[in-house]
Amino acid sequence: MIVLRNVSKVFDPHITALDDVTLSIPQGDFIFLVGHNGAGKTTLLSLLVRADQATSGVVLIGGQDLALLKGSEIPLLRRRFGIVFQDLKLFPSKTVAENVELAMQVQGCTGKRARSRAAEALALVGLEHRATFLPGNISGGERRKAAIARAIVHQPEIFIADEPTASLSPEVSWEITSLLMQINQLGITTIVSTHDRDVVDGFSRRVVALDGGRIVRDVQVGKFQENFSNATA
Ligand SMILES: Nc1ncnc2c1ncn2[C@@H]1O[C@H](COP(=O)(O)OP(=O)(O)OP(=O)(O)O)[C@@H](O)[C@H]1O
Ligand SMILES: [Mg+2]
Repeated sequence: MIVLRNVSKVFDPHITALDDVTLSIPQGDFIFLVGHNGAGKTTLLSLLVRADQATSGVVLIGGQDLALLKGSEIPLLRRRFGIVFQDLKLFPSKTVAENVELAMQVQGCTGKRARSRAAEALALVGLEHRATFLPGNISGGERRKAAIARAIVHQPEIFIADEPTASLSPEVSWEITSLLMQINQLGITTIVSTHDRDVVDGFSRRVVALDGGRIVRDVQVGKFQENFSNATA
């Protein structure tokens, strides 16, 4: 369970990126996080993984108050997450399989076991045939899949993707989002920030909309809605 209670995040000098956000995400839930550029989506995601800290309010992950976390406990928190960053952060000089294996290795799992887990993750995303390719030599959609495989290879509790379908064709966006649904069906809490109206409307899942750092809508079977200021909470 993820809980944000009256969370605000103010960047210097006076940018309020999140403004009194209260949100509960039960284990196993799926959420589309929507909102205009600068609405606060990435900021919210970064607080969950303690990449940043709230200025005020409480962030709880499985009952653990992130403000009370010691620096030495942060790696342990991060292991509970699988994260796909907007810029993917794949190592360009390592093959797709090596990129995925690396995520196991940093957790102390090496050799045959790391290789077989990487192969399983690549199979799940349908990328076995690209295992030996470098990230620069595969398509944009395939790179997203590689980053997804790397994020789930250690079987996280929570999966976060920041705009995983940005600048992909509608067909590939649909395919990638179907993959995220599949991951969620494994019982992994899944939070996806997106600008992709077709995807949000097509999958009819919980939608949390941010506008100016505030939650303006939180609906269980939601639609993307361009005019957030007309939405009801
Ligand atoms: N490190 C930072 N320092 C100062 N301001 C920041 C920082 N990170 C984000 N902001 C500001 O906080 C607000 C929210 O930004 P955020 O990146 O969370 O928006 P977003 O919803 O992810 O937007 P996008 O859809 O463009 O990715 C913006 O006004 C942004 O300029
Ligand atoms: Mg963002």
